Amino acid sequence: MAEARTLTAPRAAPDAQAAREVADGLRRAQPELPPKFFYDEAGSRLFEEITRLPEYYLTRTERALMQRWMPAWIGPLAPAAMVELGAGSAEKTTIVLDAIAAASPRAVYVPVDVSGDFLDETAVRIRAAYPSLQVQPVVADFTEAFDLPDGLGGPVLHAFLGSTIGNFAPDDAVQLLRRVRARMAPGDRFLLGVDQRKNPARIEAAYNDAAGVTAQFNLNMLRVVNTLAGTDFNVSRWEHRAFYNGVEHRIEMHLVSVIDQTVTVPGSGEFAFRAGQTIRTEISAKHDHDSVEAMFAAAGLRIDEWVTDRDGLYALVLASPAD
Ligand code: TRP
Repeated sequence: MAEARTLTAPRAAPDAQAAREVADGLRRAQPELPPKFFYDEAGSRLFEEITRLPEYYLTRTERALMQRWMPAWIGPLAPAAMVELGAGSAEKTTIVLDAIAAASPRAVYVPVDVSGDFLDETAVRIRAAYPSLQVQPVVADFTEAFDLPDGLGGPVLHAFLGSTIGNFAPDDAVQLLRRVRARMAPGDRFLLGVDQRKNPARIEAAYNDAAGVTAQFNLNMLRVVNTLAGTDFNVSRWEHRAFYNGVEHRIEMHLVSVIDQTVTVPGSGEFAFRAGQTIRTEISAKHDHDSVEAMFAAAGLRIDEWVTDRDGLYALVLASPAD
């Protein structure tokens, strides 16, 4: 009888570059792991699950706001193209695309994402649902400079949804907005979805769901890091913790070491963690009108439209180049 292990697919060789990134993060005063390691297949599935959790109000509140406002905002603009940063599964995008397809049937949709597989699926789905639109996916890490397809025409709507702006450190967020601004012509617009400051208990509940999905999502990162960087994290020795940092106005997600332990990173040796020490895996900054205005001002953008839901949980913002 064949041994079970002969059925196991050969594992991808851990990558020295990933191991270096992990070691660099773990060496900091507050050890960190890069959030991009959340998203293997299991991680992406868990994230989709997060967006449907009862406590996670962000996705459904953003969707309701888009349903309410996109027709009014997009109709008069009649964009020739929409560039979406971090398109992911583009589920929420269909609300914008409905409005765009109605206003300019031959418009170009440019989803930008690091995950090529995800983008291909998205492109197939969107092409089927919107036969008149042209879909031109761009596989790129939008946290760095990247090229857009030539000849997009105008006006262009640049969209950054899901409060992903909050997952960047303040300086990085402004830098990202500057790069968007740099390619905007006067008639182009920037659409932002952003989670709002509110009662911290409400925010904390969104990242500490009762079903424990966010905990699984956070812990899954250790498996991804083990695979990609060849580390030996023992997942059962870590716990999920998410708390609101009221000074920085942000949720911080950490992994807490349950016991004193060491972790080996190939090429960089052992890292010791005391019981209770943490590794930070994500931040999710929360905003208000003033903080968004300040970020935009630093990037050369001006707010044209600002709407929130009745409870002020979430904001949808439309902006133009400031001059
Ligand atoms: N940008 C969203 C948020 O900050 C979604 C998100 C990104 C997220 N990384 C996450 C949600 C990690 C939970 C955990 O909420």
